[in-house]
Amino acid sequence: MKRTIGFLGISLAVVFFLALAFRPMTASGSGKYLEGNPELPDSVAKVIQKACLDCHGEDGNGMAKSHVNFGKWNTYDAKKQAGKAVDISKELSKAAMPPGKWRKNNPDNIPTQAEVDLIKNWAKALNK
Ligand code: HEC
Repeated sequence: MKRTIGFLGISLAVVFFLALAFRPMTASGSGKYLEGNPELPDSVAKVIQKACLDCHGEDGNGMAKSHVNFGKWNTYDAKKQAGKAVDISKELSKAAMPPGKWRKNNPDNIPTQAEVDLIKNWAKALNK
């Protein structure tokens, strides 16, 4: 009997730790994590997450959020998402976003040319 209880305890502990290890990191809607969002391809979400969310996420900057708020992306209808995607790809192409000061402070997170192209293609596909 004792052994069964011990075994049960261990099993429960294992299940508990597994659950912790695999809990979803994508608190969708929080605006902090975009990967795993069904309305954004993961490759796109990754770029936005590293380079845009500081200002365009729920905890971001009011001015930035008034243009694009990725924490509310899923509440935008398809037409609005497509339009915003074009704005986003334009800003990236001009290297106007992320802003210069942010680039200086976050040199490792500046989107690469390949990432800019990826966003441009995504925007194009949404507007077909
Ligand atoms: C340091 C904060 C910051 C970061 C990081 C940032 N933005 Fe912005 N963004 C702003 C602010 C502030 C505005 C509003 C500027 C204004 O109204 O003049 C803005 C405006 C915009 C606009 C609207 C521009 C327009 O004039 O129509 C787009 C689109 C945009 N950002 C996309 C992005 C994308 C995409 C990224 C990431 C690659 C990004 N931003 C990263 C602060 C930021």
